[in-house]
Amino acid sequence: MFDVRGKRVFITGAASGIGLAIAEIMADAGGRIALVDCDAATLDPALSMLKDAGADVRGEVADATSIVDLERAVAATVSAFGGIDIVFANAGISGGPGFLLADGARNGAGAIENLDPDFWDRVITTNLGSIFRTIRAVAPVLKKQNGGRIIVTSSISATMTELHVGTPYVASKAGVAQLARQAARELARWNILVNAIAPGPVVTNIAGGRLKEAEARAPFEAAAPLHRIATPDDIKGAALFLASPASRHITGAEILIDGGASLGAAD
Ligand SMILES: NC(=O)c1ccc[n+]([C@@H]2O[C@H](COP(=O)([O-])OP(=O)(O)OC[C@H]3O[C@@H](n4cnc5c(N)ncnc54)[C@H](O)[C@@H]3O)[C@@H](O)[C@H]2O)c1
Repeated sequence: MFDVRGKRVFITGAASGIGLAIAEIMADAGGRIALVDCDAATLDPALSMLKDAGADVRGEVADATSIVDLERAVAATVSAFGGIDIVFANAGISGGPGFLLADGARNGAGAIENLDPDFWDRVITTNLGSIFRTIRAVAPVLKKQNGGRIIVTSSISATMTELHVGTPYVASKAGVAQLARQAARELARWNILVNAIAPGPVVTNIAGGRLKEAEARAPFEAAAPLHRIATPDDIKGAALFLASPASRHITGAEILIDGGASLGAAD
């Protein structure tokens, strides 16, 4: 049920964090992977690492906010692999600081009256606009094949309000969640299943890798009933499930991977 051997996988934001973990599990499971990222400096070592492990991988430097870049990356992947079966629309950035600091004090930089409107636009364009553009770029390929999977990375911030996460991020991820449901409804006719992975906090390089610091992790660990926050490896199981025949009757769904954080705090 979890067999994805030979499946052709297209992953945006694949050079780091969650996208790289998805690339690892899909490669381990025998997929053929196109790693798409705007950062050539991190894409190269990620590619080398997967190649050294014996994976069938290729890289595309592309900005997922650019439809031109995405169409070029999709065309190159189709040309190399003969098609695309599974798409992870994952690229995203931090939304800046929340309105509270880790110690519970107010953070002026996160106050709504201080938010830079240009930064707001950049977060929405990167986190929501790139998911739209990725789906737009791959839809013709998947429709032609009469089937495929699209898995977007949203966040528990799509439905929860936040204290330590920036307001534009929360708004962008709410858009991603609804876009995934809308696309699922539209594309079902072509046997294209669209689902979301919604992580709570994960230790990655997002926001300058701030969650690598114990002090920044502390409020999130306290707020999650499991009292830990995720590592990228914690995302792999859901990624493989949503990419594989095991989830063939699931579309428009969201899998929370948050240690129970969205339930509220516990002892
Ligand atoms: N880390 C968390 O706590 C967390 C929680 C929930 C959701 N997410 C989401 O997971 C996704 C991946 O984030 P991560 O935490 O792995 O961060 P990360 O910074 O470790 O990796 C993100 C990757 O995306 C790439 N990227 C950024 N903008 C891009 C663009 N315009 N075009 C192409 N590539 C781009 C970066 O170069 C980087 O390699 C994001 O959508 C993020 O919002 C992260």
